[in-house]
Amino acid sequence: MIIPLQTRLPKTYRITSVKKETEFVTTMTFPVSLGARPGQFIMVWVPGVEEIPMSVALDDGKKLQITFFAVGETTKTLAQLKKGDLVGLRGPFGTHYEWKPKQRLALVAGGYGAAPMFFAAANATAEGCSLEVFIGARSKEHLLYLKEFKKLPRTTLHIATDDGSEGFKGFNVQLLEKVLTDRKHSKSTPFVDQIFACGPERMLVSVSNLSFAKKIPSQLSLERYMKCGYGLCGNCVVDPLGIRLCVDGPVVKNETCRKISEFGKCHRDGLGRKHHC
Ligand SMILES: Cc1cc2nc3c(=O)[nH]c(=O)nc-3n(C[C@H](O)[C@H](O)[C@H](O)COP(=O)(O)OP(=O)(O)OC[C@H]3O[C@@H](n4cnc5c(N)ncnc54)[C@H](O)[C@@H]3O)c2cc1C
Ligand code: FES
Repeated sequence: MIIPLQTRLPKTYRITSVKKETEFVTTMTFPVSLGARPGQFIMVWVPGVEEIPMSVALDDGKKLQITFFAVGETTKTLAQLKKGDLVGLRGPFGTHYEWKPKQRLALVAGGYGAAPMFFAAANATAEGCSLEVFIGARSKEHLLYLKEFKKLPRTTLHIATDDGSEGFKGFNVQLLEKVLTDRKHSKSTPFVDQIFACGPERMLVSVSNLSFAKKIPSQLSLERYMKCGYGLCGNCVVDPLGIRLCVDGPVVKNETCRKISEFGKCHRDGLGRKHHC
């Protein structure tokens, strides 16, 4: 197998803009297109620190964006970089969300999952799809990408916050279930053709169960510790299927997700040790 240089070695780009979305979340723009599709990820090398996986928040053929939480050493260092500083990128890697033109899609996003979901939403609406978007966060200050979603055509936005500070009080998946049930009673079924989800794994487990119960196909974005990103190191293998989530994921169909015994239960760290969720 020949692995292209762009895959193996990061190329450095100068940051063209830095936007603070919230106290802990930053969106960074680079003057390059890597030809990424919604749901794919790239490896981001922060010189002097580490290389980490990030979902592509936008790749419009001219520029590429990432949106990230400053949680540890690498992301905190990245958040301090300024316009003009150099960051290494390689990729894109993995699978992406798939839809057909003019389909009706429910998009479920928690945390920074709102960023790749917006990328999917922008491309899907450009292909005539209509969207029901369910954004969830702890409280209203943590809601991401609302303004951007509101500008999209044929898009209805549903907001859920754990504390009820904006929209529905509770989880976004509970709100999706409520809307699915209400629409069923109004006989406007089938309400959506597919469900896409990106966010914390406990949210994905709820989406998986709901999608299974309602017999609506879904595609979920699963995260595992990534090192190489192109299927070589084996760090992102999941039990018992043995699939590598950097190449067979991160976007996985629900039928496959439900066969992953560790889904929602545990994951491996950088040394391959299991940690329970
Ligand atoms: C496919 C994929 C897409 C991602 N997309 C985004 C995104 O769009 N925005 C965002 O904020 N975060 C994203 N992440 C998570 C991001 O990679 C971690 O938050 C980041 O690596 C943390 O690094 P750190 O040094 O700041 O924190 P650390 O303190 O080193 O790590 C904090 C936690 O992040 C996770 N983590 C650390 N290194 C890795 C790694 N190499 N691979 C996977 N997880 C790791 C571990 O669970 C760890 O406990 C994504 C992860 C994956 C696997
Ligand atoms: S990250 Fe190396 S095989 Fe997936």
